[in-house]
Amino acid sequence: MEVKNTKVIVINNQKGGQHKSTISHHLGVVLAESELKVCIIDADYTQGSLTKMVVGSVEGTGQKGLMHILLDNRTESHEVIVRTNSKNLDIIPSELKVMNRSIDIGLVIAQDEDRITKLKNFVDNNLRGKYDFIIIDTPPKDDLVLRNTLVASDFVIIPTLAADASTEQVPRTAQSIIDVKQNSNPNIELLGILLVQTDGRAKITREARNKMKKLVGEAVFDTEIRKNTKFESLMRDKLSIFDVAERDQVKGAKGAVEYCNLGAEVLKRLNNIEAKKSNKIEQEVSHG
Ligand SMILES: Nc1ncnc2c1ncn2[C@@H]1O[C@H](COP(=O)(O)OP(=O)(O)OP(=O)(O)O)[C@@H](O)[C@H]1O
Ligand SMILES: [Mg+2]
Repeated sequence: MEVKNTKVIVINNQKGGQHKSTISHHLGVVLAESELKVCIIDADYTQGSLTKMVVGSVEGTGQKGLMHILLDNRTESHEVIVRTNSKNLDIIPSELKVMNRSIDIGLVIAQDEDRITKLKNFVDNNLRGKYDFIIIDTPPKDDLVLRNTLVASDFVIIPTLAADASTEQVPRTAQSIIDVKQNSNPNIELLGILLVQTDGRAKITREARNKMKKLVGEAVFDTEIRKNTKFESLMRDKLSIFDVAERDQVKGAKGAVEYCNLGAEVLKRLNNIEAKKSNKIEQEVSHG
């Protein structure tokens, strides 16, 4: 089997409701549709939204997922990987309970020596080389599980609503990522800040865009995801915006187009990063 050059992307914002789970789902689908092999990981053990969106809750089914990876270092990939309806797309779900009990997994693993590298060890030993992309959805808080996701990842996308109350919180999330980069995972890089729930004509969108550009410059994605009520019922029906566009026969439905654009921009940004890296290596070799 071909060994793939796996990229691990974490979707993170410590503030709730910034479309992390919706983006993890749709970016996964769009990359899988481009013939890339993708595994999405639901690391939001507090809600399991990504799991509900894609395959439905796994509570009471005995299906293992993220919790088992964090609890038991011997967990094997076949125990936690679930196939989805989309060809090329797998998911590692999140169970909300273990043995019928809700647990604060962060507290349970706090004393372990490998407490922040558990997910990384699993990803590196079981998933790297097998998938083109691994996309990790995160909980809306900074705890040991979030740290595990940042340590396991190569790139981070920070989504933010185009509103003051949200953009004001982005530096806090960025600070945790800088912290992890300095102390535990020097490889992690910001792939971009993604503005969501934008409204093209609104002053508030323009202000949010300017504020984020001031913070990170070109690292703000050109693609923006507009406010769109069609997204609200997706989880209930376990559908993606692409399924809805097909069902309603809406050619060029705006949400679907935006997520296709996001997929293309993610690939373009990764290509640019790779090209810069190989230029640097060539320069180093020629200066010998
Ligand atoms: N483009 C959009 N326009 C309007 N609403 C949207 C859009 N995309 C997603 N939503 C809705 O926004 C809400 C929050 O989205 P989502 O659950 O993806 O956020 P989240 O960051 O994962 O939240 P949490 O922090 O609670 O995990 C959901 O009800 C979702 O359906
Ligand atoms: Mg979520």
